[in-house]
Amino acid sequence: AAANPESAANPEAAANPESDGRPRDVVAAAVIDRDRVLLAQRAHPAALAGKWELPGGRVEAGETHAQALVREIREELGAEVEAGDGIGTPVALPNGLTLHAYRARLRSGTPAALEHLEMRWFTAAELRALDAEDVVPADRGWIPDLCRALEET
Ligand code: C5P
Repeated sequence: AAANPESAANPEAAANPESDGRPRDVVAAAVIDRDRVLLAQRAHPAALAGKWELPGGRVEAGETHAQALVREIREELGAEVEAGDGIGTPVALPNGLTLHAYRARLRSGTPAALEHLEMRWFTAAELRALDAEDVVPADRGWIPDLCRALEET
């Protein structure tokens, strides 16, 4: 765990994920509108602050992944989305959680960075131009999947 700067800074990593009774899944939304996908810049922890991610968060007890995705996007971006198919391969996080990405479509509202530093719509070309260092480690491997999804629409 010491090899990952996030686990030291993230309170979640200090809790025992085996015994806290909560699901160990995190969901992230690839909100796609025409030829763009929405990425948001993390505000915390310090090691990840300023890095781009697919917005999302932990699944709560009793929630489906789709329900968690809708709730997280409502909380983080103030918009209503509809969850779609999975995208990319789930990623094992260093804190024992597993991160799953899903496509999502906007149903209503205008997304805004309520809990992030910034949000921005990226085309496939803009995603490819991103420095990997500027994307949170867990999400980096999804860039090619996101580009493919944008280019097939
Ligand atoms: O956003 P939140 O802190 O609820 O996310 C829970 C965990 O999932 C954290 O460890 C966070 O770094 C990770 N995460 C991620 N990529 C995302 C969303 C969350 O690595 N797109």
